[in-house]
Amino acid sequence: TVETVTARRIIDSRGNPTVEVDVVLADGSLGRAAVPSGASTGAREAVELRDGDSARWHGKGVDRAVAHVNGEIAAAVRGRDASDQAGLDAALVDLDGTPAKSRLGANAVLGVSLATAKAAAAAHRQPLYRYLGGAGATLLPLPMMNIVNGGAHADNPLDFQEFMIAPVGAETFAEAVRMGSEVFHTLRRDLLAAGHSTGVGDEGGFAPSLRTAEEALDFVVNAIERTGYRPGADIALVMDPASSEFFRDGVYDYQGEGVRRTPSENADYLAKLIDAYPVVSVEDPMAENDWDGWRELTARVGDRCQLTGDDLFCTDEKLLREGIRTGAGNSVLIKVNQIGTLTEALATVATAHAAGWTAVMSHRSGETEDTTIADLAVATGCGQIKTGSLSRSDRTAKYNQLIRIEEELGDAARYAGRSALRRA
Ligand code: PGA
Ligand code: ZN
Repeated sequence: TVETVTARRIIDSRGNPTVEVDVVLADGSLGRAAVPSGASTGAREAVELRDGDSARWHGKGVDRAVAHVNGEIAAAVRGRDASDQAGLDAALVDLDGTPAKSRLGANAVLGVSLATAKAAAAAHRQPLYRYLGGAGATLLPLPMMNIVNGGAHADNPLDFQEFMIAPVGAETFAEAVRMGSEVFHTLRRDLLAAGHSTGVGDEGGFAPSLRTAEEALDFVVNAIERTGYRPGADIALVMDPASSEFFRDGVYDYQGEGVRRTPSENADYLAKLIDAYPVVSVEDPMAENDWDGWRELTARVGDRCQLTGDDLFCTDEKLLREGIRTGAGNSVLIKVNQIGTLTEALATVATAHAAGWTAVMSHRSGETEDTTIADLAVATGCGQIKTGSLSRSDRTAKYNQLIRIEEELGDAARYAGRSALRRA
């Protein structure tokens, strides 16, 4: 049973305050979880409660969320059975009482939800992935490594937010990390040689002053080849345009490139990129309010490319069901803080899998050293994780945790590789 629940304010990878929660059980087991934070957030996400006092933390304080955990939530959770995650999460949702967790704050609620799961795993003397996923949780995810940053995550003109590499041909997760690291360093040298900055963006990828997606994709494909890998066969490409960020008045406004595209023109453009480069997955190719555009693109390329809804679904099972029903996308991004409890995030994964859709476990652009999502990727068997570049400890911490899990599983470990991109 839960004995104490304590929240504190820590700082995230952008130097902004965030919530960390400790849950201690009667047997002394400790669970600790830190809450991440997005920059290109979806409009339908659960509410991240910020103090809004411009004199402190530029308005981003989380003192109210911390106080909610230490007061009201701690009082409600004390004495509960930590093993009853669904019951706990339902109680948190009820206690908040609003549709988007805006009263207590999804940052307050999620910290307690995750910390309790981790405390329960500790009490069961099990790693989190096994406690949640059972003995069958042995699938190591295909990592999508974000090596070029643009959009809201960097101060360059690139319209698309993320250009990722996915080592589909690796034999093990550890080998996938080695391949990614090698390409990352080749790319660094190539950018330097071409006179570009090699400073990195929020997710640890380079942020060169490029203007078009083609320029970025060419750099990445060349880096893969020059490292000695086959683009497509060994290492595939993944993009997150995060297109809600530049969809205005019904038009995709590519300001870096200096081009405006209607939804149909945007579908043409994306289909061309998907066919010209070894792109196996695109996240938010269309904006969160452009469901027709999503359906058009899915009808055109959904048979050969994973189309993952991030802003479109916000990890919300109800929104996902709408996508499944109407053919908008074929995959869902899972960000635990978009929905606010572990139980709801796991339900969204289950709904995707039941429909033959894929799910991708994901970090936020504002992260901490917390590695819970690495365990969740294995626990759910979703087979894919997106957690940034091969630099910045807030990103590499997740890869390193997966390396440890693979080692611990030993012969039982299986690496998802390319197979992750399709469910039978
Ligand atoms: P965010 O972006 O965490 O800044 O919202 C990540 C993404 O769009 O996938
Ligand atoms: Zn995204």
